Amino acid sequence: MTDLDAEIARAALLLQQGGIVAFPTETVYGLGGDATSDRAVARIFEAKGRPSFNPLISHVPDLAAARALGEFDERAERLAQVFWPGPLTLVVRRTKDCPVSLLATAGLDTLAIRVPAHPVAQKLLRAVGRPLAAPSANRSGQISPTTAEHVRQGLGAKVDMVIDGGPCTVGIESTIISCLGEAPVVLRPGGIAREDIATALGTAVQGLNADPLVPNAPGQLSSHYAPRAKMRLNAQAPMPDEAWLGFGPDPDEAAALPEDRRRNLSPSADPVEAAANLFRFMHELDASGAATIAVAPVPPRGLGEGINDRLRRAAAPATN
Ligand code: TXA
Ligand code: MG
Repeated sequence: MTDLDAEIARAALLLQQGGIVAFPTETVYGLGGDATSDRAVARIFEAKGRPSFNPLISHVPDLAAARALGEFDERAERLAQVFWPGPLTLVVRRTKDCPVSLLATAGLDTLAIRVPAHPVAQKLLRAVGRPLAAPSANRSGQISPTTAEHVRQGLGAKVDMVIDGGPCTVGIESTIISCLGEAPVVLRPGGIAREDIATALGTAVQGLNADPLVPNAPGQLSSHYAPRAKMRLNAQAPMPDEAWLGFGPDPDEAAALPEDRRRNLSPSADPVEAAANLFRFMHELDASGAATIAVAPVPPRGLGEGINDRLRRAAAPATN
């Protein structure tokens, strides 16, 4: 066993235990965590200092593993066959029993999936045996890291481990293609040229600004997750016919509600725990059938800022 193999084995163990590990891909270094663990995904957002929870890319070792997570239509299959493993990310619908954390997909019923080509990423994904959610391994607002040293400078002690696989060869992030609509759309230009994608499909592929109705920012194409129920934010207590999403100690009115109409993001007021539970609890309370979900105030400290951002978006009427 080489030193690198031993490092990969150690990283896989850390990841299976909910740790977060920076690892090389051919595009940029990723900050990986078990995509099926709400808690690990919340730790990724915390380490990045992201002001809002953008949906993350799930990384898997091959197309077979990808099919367990997302629905691949003919075009998605074609793109995967041609470009995977490689710097291409496909946005598809989640499968019915997709195990990926709702925090990783920001509550959406779609999923971004990528099969990286880097040999270290490949070995790591096979050793972990679970999809890894991995945004670029930089603090939010800083440039993406293409060496292990960049990661150490930017994230340092915030990550459990950095695997050094040398400099990244592509150096820019993957091209993201949405396969949700009538025609595939490039959501983010990246490591694979649009022309090459068009050639593989045998049709032209829209870029970001080709259609004024397609929003520009990746992650904005589908509307942000919004429950069917109305959201009443910064509530002190629920009314008897409302559902309750608490944070910190619950008021008596909440304890009086039936079990399916109350959740507490974090009884101990821990923002990391709250973020981990956020989208799952919103889905569960929505399923209770209550017309309104009353939400306790969440202080905007640490991940609390991202939680408030998502709560406000969920409270706003859907625009697309
Ligand atoms: O090359 C890369 O793609 C790197 C390496 C580590 O794989 N990863 C990366 O991840 O750049 P990140 O989190 O920095 O960018 C992911 C992008 C975000 O802009 C996000 O909005 C978009 O993917 N995205 C993720 N899920 C999506 C979804 N369901 N629908 C639309 N966009 C999505
Ligand atoms: Mg990034």
